[in-house]
Amino acid sequence: MALRTIRIAGDPVLTRKCREVKEMTPRLKELIDDMFETMYESSGVGLAAPQVGILKRICVIDTTGENPLVLINPVITEREGEQTGDEGCLSLPGKAAQVTRPMKVVVEALDRDMNPVVLTGEELLARAMCHEIDHLDGHMYTEFAEGPVHDVTYEDEDEEEEE
Ligand code: NI
Repeated sequence: MALRTIRIAGDPVLTRKCREVKEMTPRLKELIDDMFETMYESSGVGLAAPQVGILKRICVIDTTGENPLVLINPVITEREGEQTGDEGCLSLPGKAAQVTRPMKVVVEALDRDMNPVVLTGEELLARAMCHEIDHLDGHMYTEFAEGPVHDVTYEDEDEEEEE
């Protein structure tokens, strides 16, 4: 495993639409391992492949530190309720803004062995799923921000989840 360089907002790779994964390969498994390592190293709760420069529909999420999820070709099939709160992104370090997301989503995806899975996410996990899937279509949370994109102060940093 190896750390990958996280692309920062302004990098055109973050605005591109990613391609579907057709088959799993040793190289893609290595990418997934590297994405987890890079995400944990940066204290993030999610990371999408374009954030490390790979235009494929793959994201990794772990909102608890104990529930690593791989989402390949994910599609949101149900949305319920809403939540409004601060959201951050590893591609925009030290910043956050208010974004409204569904309180609950159902996602259909493939796991790292390309088996179909149906995942339900609520609260932070729902937010992370929406945020990461947006990355696969070239979207950053700042496009949906309801207030100013603000600096995260040092004291707040422990409470921020960066995706
Ligand atoms: Ni992000």
